[in-house]
Amino acid sequence: MPHYHSLGTIPHKRHTQFRQSNGSLYSEQLFSTEGFSNDYSLLYHVHPPTEIIATDEPYDVMPRIAEEKMLKHRSFEGFGVRLEADYLQSRKPVLVNNDCHLVLAAPGRSMEDYFYKNADADELIFIHEGSGVLRTMYGELSFGYGDYLVVPRGTIYQLRFDTAENRLFIVESFSPIRYPKKYLSPYGQLLEHSPYCERDIRGPQSLVTRDEKGDFLIRTKKKGRMYGIHYGHHPFDVIGWDGCCYPFAFSIHDFEPITGRVHQPPPVHQTFEGHNFVVCSFCPRLFDYHPLAIPAPYNHSNIDSDEVLYYVDGDFMSRKNVTRGMITLHPGGIPHGPHPGAVQRSIGAKETKELAVMVDTFHPLSLTIEALEIENPGYTMSWAE
Ligand SMILES: [Fe+2]
Repeated sequence: MPHYHSLGTIPHKRHTQFRQSNGSLYSEQLFSTEGFSNDYSLLYHVHPPTEIIATDEPYDVMPRIAEEKMLKHRSFEGFGVRLEADYLQSRKPVLVNNDCHLVLAAPGRSMEDYFYKNADADELIFIHEGSGVLRTMYGELSFGYGDYLVVPRGTIYQLRFDTAENRLFIVESFSPIRYPKKYLSPYGQLLEHSPYCERDIRGPQSLVTRDEKGDFLIRTKKKGRMYGIHYGHHPFDVIGWDGCCYPFAFSIHDFEPITGRVHQPPPVHQTFEGHNFVVCSFCPRLFDYHPLAIPAPYNHSNIDSDEVLYYVDGDFMSRKNVTRGMITLHPGGIPHGPHPGAVQRSIGAKETKELAVMVDTFHPLSLTIEALEIENPGYTMSWAE
């Protein structure tokens, strides 16, 4: 999905002899998506990427569904999830369907004794709190507050955090996460009306080739199970790569909001899309400037989607009692809108400082046990107060 990028050393022609200084061949690996029919990269390893030396018994990591079906407005205290030192244990799926899992995580420790690969899903990791480095076989990406990290499925990675205070909102997508088609030229350039452009996309910046033998554990998630697969060499042994499939970062602070004389609909905030869901960024912006404009959103019936808002920062003019990290779920089937008084209060307001990530899914979401543990009671009837 991103554009052509290259790091390190690669041969002039693909699929030709490319030798190390000792005369042995580098191992070429095609990393392709949607079979051989979409974006791909070619990586050159010091060692074959196939050298498994041991496997562990898998363990179950399926989301634990508490409510498969429901029709109520819900709200969750996202910062209420348990802190866990370990990154994988810290990941708590809260709202899930067959297209995506929405996950909260508050990891306290960097990944040091294992690597991770999601074999099922692209991952969109939104950094609400914390900073550090995403290490991958493609190189390293520094991240901080407000970054979306997009990690294509199959990418082997480690997250290194600067501190123990980290808050992540993660979308696992069972289809590729892409730039919205409406922003792209027929050949894939981001168009002038897109709220961000190629300059805002940060690809891997440094490639450190680790030629190390040993026992390297890659925890690999597949079909709701975590497999421990041990390799005989360091997985980041790439000397060079090129292509259009690689992890990248995009900061929500680089999203340029589109505003109008009257209220603009949510699609102007769209940032990414997957199959049957979209991701939108609500960023600080000037309000509508028609002299009679109502800046607060209208009530609306989301006929075809469940709407999830993850509140990041700023003040939220359409709702009361909003906290950082709060999630609201407005399911398709019943209309929702501003809380009582919010419409009147919004009239005359010039700007909003709100920062939020929205995920709209086109099929209903189920709630997990972890979601119910952090639910705010009473939200369903909060418009009647
Ligand atoms: Fe909505």
